[in-house]
Amino acid sequence: MNEKEILQKIKLFVFDLLKNESTGHDYFHIRRVVDNSLMIAKQEDSNIFYVKILAWLHDVGDYKINSGINKNKEILFPFLSSLKFSTPKINEILEDIELISYRGGFNEKTDKIEVKIVQDADRLDAIGAIGIARAFAYGGKKGNPIYTPNFIAEEILTVEMYKNNKAPTIQHFYDKLLKLKDLMNTETGKKLAEERHKYMLNFLDQFYKEWNA
Ligand code: ADP
Ligand code: NI
Repeated sequence: MNEKEILQKIKLFVFDLLKNESTGHDYFHIRRVVDNSLMIAKQEDSNIFYVKILAWLHDVGDYKINSGINKNKEILFPFLSSLKFSTPKINEILEDIELISYRGGFNEKTDKIEVKIVQDADRLDAIGAIGIARAFAYGGKKGNPIYTPNFIAEEILTVEMYKNNKAPTIQHFYDKLLKLKDLMNTETGKKLAEERHKYMLNFLDQFYKEWNA
């Protein structure tokens, strides 16, 4: 199988798994992450095939879409073996996918450019207009309220607290979304994050204005 054939198989696999996903981690989220990754990768010295693999596969085993359980290994090992990837290569992919995740800011940092690129692309999709839509989709699916006046946020001290957070979705902007602009790895990511960040600040202003009208 050549690279194009492998990527086609990966795409179909991901489509099948995520076509009905409704927490904002659906097939089109993955498509946008692939497209943004490629745009960022143009400005970086990186292995494009590897960037594409990470971008396509970064969410299929995530705990958020697998009833709270990380299934990366369970889902990806057999699939990548069927595509004739070697065991060391599969392990590398699995390790790199774990590093892409935000995990409340508690995740390990990485120096690998391909991981940094996909991480930026994933984070761009978490902010701006699409990021806002995804946050409320996720919050709704988890049964969290949109906003609760006078809500007192508790400081998130561990990754478990982050994962199990039942705070109103507006709180997620302060817990994560507004922090992402300063956590971008690449220059392209930083530039693209600026506009989306401002859009979220405007959204919050308008939200409070309407709430208090
Ligand atoms: P990653 O997948 O990078 O680990 P997260 O686990 O923070 O990142 O989740 C990715 C996306 O899921 C967020 O950008 C957001 O859209 C949504 N999300 C996660 N936690 C929440 C939450 N508590 N409230 C609203 N949306 C959330
Ligand atoms: Ni993602």
